[in-house]
Amino acid sequence: MTDFECTPQVALDFMNREHRKAFDDANALKRLLDKALALKLDSALKSETKSPEPEALGEFETEEEAKTSQSDSTKIELLMQTLLLDTVTHFKLEEQCMEQYEFPAREAHSQEHRLVLQWMDREHSLWSRDCNIETINHLSIYAADRFPKWLLNHIVTMDTVMASYIHRHGGTSF
Ligand SMILES: [Fe+2]
Ligand SMILES: [Fe+2]
Repeated sequence: MTDFECTPQVALDFMNREHRKAFDDANALKRLLDKALALKLDSALKSETKSPEPEALGEFETEEEAKTSQSDSTKIELLMQTLLLDTVTHFKLEEQCMEQYEFPAREAHSQEHRLVLQWMDREHSLWSRDCNIETINHLSIYAADRFPKWLLNHIVTMDTVMASYIHRHGGTSF
């Protein structure tokens, strides 16, 4: 699993703190999506192999599952909003730093941020409470693999160079 523990630190503390939270949130999102996926698969299996059990018991099980699923759906929705909004805020802070210290490659770095936000927005908009199995699986791969891999690659390339430049030019108070 790609997480903060296997990621080299950059020269500015606020960036390390926020990168750690992004990895943690993506991992938490992956766990919730996997739970939602397991529930969907289970319920698909049950509806395929429905036995003539007393109706009341069958309904009770479904209600319980529906409650769990609804509460997890809300958590997934909130976590996706948090991950996206925190990323927006994080990028803004990095961009302010780059402007303030006139980091030479700031335009390319900011352009990468813009593209990633568009991609994240597209991915997050796939989520809805009645997602099918393929969509939940797709989002689980995004949270477990695609997003953390992008983040790691961005940290060890653009963020490392930018943080080191700003640190060398006196930006130690961030
Ligand atoms: Fe960053
Ligand atoms: Fe960045």
